[in-house]
Amino acid sequence: MPHGVPNRNWSYPTAIKFGVGRIGELAEHAKSIGLKKPLLVTDKALAALPITAAALEVLDAAGLGRAVFSDVDPNPNEANMAAGIAVYKDGKHDGVICFGGGSALDLGKMIALMAHQKKGLSVWDLEDIDDWYTRADAAKIAPIIAVPTTAGTGSEVGRAGVLTNSETHKKKIIFHPALMPKVTLCDPALTVGMPRFITAGTGMDALAHCLEAYCSPFYHPMSQGIALEGMRLVFENLPKAYKHPDHLMARAHMMSAAAMGAVAFQKGLGAIHSLSHPIGAVYGTHHGTTNAVVMPMVLDFNRKEIKDRLAAAAAYCGIKGGYKGFRARIMGLRDELDIPANLTKLGVTDPDLDMLTEMALEDPSCGGNPVKMTKKNTRKLYEACL
Ligand SMILES: [Fe+2]
Repeated sequence: MPHGVPNRNWSYPTAIKFGVGRIGELAEHAKSIGLKKPLLVTDKALAALPITAAALEVLDAAGLGRAVFSDVDPNPNEANMAAGIAVYKDGKHDGVICFGGGSALDLGKMIALMAHQKKGLSVWDLEDIDDWYTRADAAKIAPIIAVPTTAGTGSEVGRAGVLTNSETHKKKIIFHPALMPKVTLCDPALTVGMPRFITAGTGMDALAHCLEAYCSPFYHPMSQGIALEGMRLVFENLPKAYKHPDHLMARAHMMSAAAMGAVAFQKGLGAIHSLSHPIGAVYGTHHGTTNAVVMPMVLDFNRKEIKDRLAAAAAYCGIKGGYKGFRARIMGLRDELDIPANLTKLGVTDPDLDMLTEMALEDPSCGGNPVKMTKKNTRKLYEACL
């Protein structure tokens, strides 16, 4: 059956090869950026799936080998990174193919970033603070190709990766402009086999990126426009992709929305992410699902600052009832996607709210929230989410 998904080459914000079956061009694009011996980084579950075997086959057939590193935790940490760097160096690889969801994409980027930096430079020295990224030697960063197999993180078009510190359980955003993949292959067919709860959770992550970027108070009209259309695409297509996993057009629109979310959140994120990062780091919950759980409570928290702006978004997205209608649409979407109603139902029991509050306030996403987050109101917001 014809799927109708367009086949496009974009160069915004990097070279994106978009279309069903484009994974077949993986070796060609790897060669085009000078790779002779790439390391494919993926996660444990994906490593066993036919889509990964097929990607390796494409590389191998073109003489690029079939080297894989897949010891990647759902919330990857510096130990995963060190293990990956050891494999990268032992194999004398010359670039990284990041293949998977957020965890694999982010960890692959960290391997490319740190494999050949000078001794004494820690990955934590490159946290996304001021101009800390200038501490890294940009010339030593390995070239990256990104192949997303989920539609949510948007890391395939981003210049950062999230890494969890296994001692402090804190998630840190590690940034360098050279982490932008040289080529990104967006093949919607790769997302068809995702477990259903991953389709739901990752899709809600894309929505959270667009929503928080759209609501952030900073001046960035380009991101504002992208965020708005990204939300519309999620509302129209995420339920279809969830109910009908092989609906390639819905998968394609979700893949676009995910990339759009990551482009848009240059404008800022907010309380959804600052609450969700500590929960994910301490309890190992799925990032996007956690975002979906806290989303309506964060809307309530920000209501007075965002209600007019979200009324405009509702009108654009064809949702009746202004702000209230928008909130109701989020609640409906959560129901359709079987998202747990609160953090308790997500498995967060007896949490240390003081600790979580402190971690949330340290999270860089805080700065983009429309209402200033304080110790008192953030603790109350966590209580509302339980
Ligand atoms: Fe996110």
